[in-house]
Amino acid sequence: MARFSVFLTLFALCGHALCQSSTADQFLAQESPIAKANLLANIGPDGKAAGAGAGVVIASPSKTDPPYFFTWTRDTSLVFAAIIDQYTLGIDQSANLRTQIDNFVTSQARIQQISNPSGTITTGGLGEPKFNVDFTAFTGKFFCAWGRPQRDGPALRATAMTVWANFLLGQNNVTYVQNSLWPIIQRDLDYVAQNWNQTTFDLWEEVSSSSFFTTAVQHRSLRQGAALATKISQSATTYTTQADNLLCFLQSYWNTAGFVTANTGGGRSGKDANTVLASIHTFDAAAGCDSVTFQPCSDRALSNLITYVNAFRSIYTINSGIAANQAVATGRYPEDSYFGGNPWYLATLAVAEQLYDALIVWNQQKSLDVTATSLAFFQLFDSSVTTGTYASTTTTFTSLTSAVKNFADGFVNVVAKFTPSNGGLSEQYSRNDGTPLSAVDLTWSYAATLTAIDAHQGVTPASWGAKGLTVPTQCQRSAGGGGSGGGGAGTVAVTFNVHAETVFGENIFLTGSVDELQNWSPDNALALNADNYPTWSITVNLPANSQIEYKYIRKFNGAITWESDPNNVINVPASGTFTENDTWR
Ligand SMILES: *[C@@H]1O[C@H](CO)[C@@H](O)[C@H](O)[C@H]1NC(C)=O
Ligand SMILES: *[C@@H]1O[C@H](CO)[C@@H](O)[C@H](O)[C@H]1NC(C)=O
Ligand SMILES: *[C@@H]1O[C@H](CO)[C@@H](O)[C@H](O)[C@H]1NC(C)=O
Repeated sequence: MARFSVFLTLFALCGHALCQSSTADQFLAQESPIAKANLLANIGPDGKAAGAGAGVVIASPSKTDPPYFFTWTRDTSLVFAAIIDQYTLGIDQSANLRTQIDNFVTSQARIQQISNPSGTITTGGLGEPKFNVDFTAFTGKFFCAWGRPQRDGPALRATAMTVWANFLLGQNNVTYVQNSLWPIIQRDLDYVAQNWNQTTFDLWEEVSSSSFFTTAVQHRSLRQGAALATKISQSATTYTTQADNLLCFLQSYWNTAGFVTANTGGGRSGKDANTVLASIHTFDAAAGCDSVTFQPCSDRALSNLITYVNAFRSIYTINSGIAANQAVATGRYPEDSYFGGNPWYLATLAVAEQLYDALIVWNQQKSLDVTATSLAFFQLFDSSVTTGTYASTTTTFTSLTSAVKNFADGFVNVVAKFTPSNGGLSEQYSRNDGTPLSAVDLTWSYAATLTAIDAHQGVTPASWGAKGLTVPTQCQRSAGGGGSGGGGAGTVAVTFNVHAETVFGENIFLTGSVDELQNWSPDNALALNADNYPTWSITVNLPANSQIEYKYIRKFNGAITWESDPNNVINVPASGTFTENDTWR
């Protein structure tokens, strides 16, 4: 009886601000067990992942159109980051979850060892984006075969396992951390430390350049990895040095129009869910509203969020007629055309999660800053607000935080509106009418639901060391530690194109006489991309006004073939850019 009247009251309030929250609360409460069950069903060896190894996460049970019955390192690591948070934060400490985490560790140790088209475990293979679910390399020619390497995977895996390691150390389970986890984490950290300054495909597997999400998660992995290394008496120096370099580089993505340009290449607007995902996956409440690490409540991250959201207002039919301060459906990036370029559940949920994360911190620190950078964001909810610090005792604090809470709930409501009654979440929902589209039961959609629910409940993930970081005054490149001011006057962006016919699984690399070309190291040679096969390409910043020798090499199944002698020579000009066109010799 009492419950019934509460229910009636909630309905009576619809149309008022409270209705927003009650709908979101109800949806999240209902969806929580569904998302958990459907997520677990996509982890081998059982359920919808039958045929996959134990602990192997399938991206989706969809085997055709689109074929997602593979295991991606990024998706897997994000899924297990969510599971590990549930376990370590005491949300679900069931024996089943513990078994899943153990299986994750065992399966990733095995996946790291698989030689693949990106290389072997020591020659770049960790950057391979996806594998077959039976622990073999993916060598298919079609469907994403072009999008390698993707250098966020090792960073995300290291982070998930480091959170797990820290929890186990807290339980004095040192042996397991040292013997089983650290070797896996260390390989990933070494990969990140050595390769962060190489081009990468972005998280959507389309653009080969530098990518904000990748840089942000790489930074977090090294920072957190360095702290773990220190705790278990391993060397942390390299990780800390490269983390500083990454933090410096991370700042360069911010642009004066008030948002983060997601990729340095790609020729798009640069407005991309990439950046919102970067913020939520590097959330550290201890860092407050720090903009250097792009915390969810930082002025930069809020300005970026609204710029990203607004990019979808006019392009999706389902967003038409919605006021400028109300939530809308959002997708990966406005120029997207994949499967018709629709909104994605995980992208819309990420917006809600960033705002819930922001609310956690404002409530913890009992104040909220409005800066020139975040003014436009806050003025959406109160056009008279001015820059300043508002303590939690002020009415401005109360009205702004409740408006932001409503705005956040609005994104959940969009997802709720377009979720079918069985609670299943596919990858996309139609821009025209909200019908679910593309891969069914996308595992990442469920992980995104679980992390949004945690944030909505005010759950604070463990700190990773974002607090109090300062940006080095001059950015250094990674190679050899001796790089001049990167991107500064001292370098010229040189593009190497080489015409080389290859057999499938064979890749072309470049090495040469300077640090930037890895000093004739075949192991660390730079991977070229085959976007314009049979032309293989890479762009490298080389010292201006210098003469450099180099050669291309082929790698196939672990075997290395050098070009014939003599060495190639390039004269790097004093400024500008330069394109070198070669034919394999
Ligand atoms: C340490 O954790 C591992 C992995 O879950 C587990 O198998 C092992 O029993 C734990 N050891 C102790 C001493 O708790
Ligand atoms: C390498 O680092 C330098 C210095 O931070 C930066 O300017 C450059 O864009 C980076 N290149 C890549 C591919 O990450
Ligand atoms: C290489 O080819 C590009 C495009 O055709 C051209 O712009 C460039 O000048 C060429 N480079 C050299 C060194 O000839």
